[in-house]
Amino acid sequence: MDGRSIGIFDSGLGGLTTVAELRRLLAQEDIVYFGDTGRVPYGGRSRETIIKYARQDMAFLRTFDLKAVVIACGTASTTAMDVMEAEQDIPVIGVVEPAARAAARATRNGKIGLIATQASIRSGMYERRIMAENPAAAVLPQACPLFVPLVESGRIHPGDIVIETVVAEYLAPLKAAGVDTLLMGCTHYPLLTRVIAAFMGEGVTLINAGAEGAKAMAELLRARGGLTGESAPGQCRYFVSDSVDNFSALASLFLRENVTETVTQIDISVY
Ligand code: DGL
Repeated sequence: MDGRSIGIFDSGLGGLTTVAELRRLLAQEDIVYFGDTGRVPYGGRSRETIIKYARQDMAFLRTFDLKAVVIACGTASTTAMDVMEAEQDIPVIGVVEPAARAAARATRNGKIGLIATQASIRSGMYERRIMAENPAAAVLPQACPLFVPLVESGRIHPGDIVIETVVAEYLAPLKAAGVDTLLMGCTHYPLLTRVIAAFMGEGVTLINAGAEGAKAMAELLRARGGLTGESAPGQCRYFVSDSVDNFSALASLFLRENVTETVTQIDISVY
């Protein structure tokens, strides 16, 4: 048994998809979350910058006594995973492996749509992991650079003409190609699940990278005997690098609980 907290970081709100699933699976665990809201989005930045930011995010989280970390950011997972693993002395899980495995197993017609940030698509990491699992699969990649700013602005609801137009613009080619599985390879995108699912139609399975990362962490802790022995619900603390207001409002909406009292702003530049 291990009562230490689980660390989770993302460039902003997206990692809440991991928090939500982890709380569903392991409600007793304590979580420390960092969202780099002052520097979001990461997806259009260079590999060097993404690695620098991921290192700082990790350094901040490591000021807490952690037993493991989920990199709940597709972009940091595709681009900085090797560096993070090499530099840390606790288990670090990214979202790419678990999400790619889930997509490779879910497809029936072998056509998998992949939506992610520009940096993640450029890395080719999701495709490689999917092909390793299912060499017969055909992966159709599509970068969606407008999704993250729109999610961070709260434009996530069905009926919002802006998000519906952008979703249709990005996803029409994947729908026309007949994909039966859509891997949402950026952890922000599952906040758009209702809009994306409505556009793609019923026959398409959506894979939530953030949730798959949470499942992988739960499996890892179970296998190592690393779960907390507590029976009371775990505490969740949130830290952000910009004002707490926008994050608190959207996080409370998404997690369906008021998290305002547990959100703190920090200066990430000092890490
Ligand atoms: N949630 C991050 C991801 O999964 C968003 C990246 C960004 O900030 O552009 O890729």
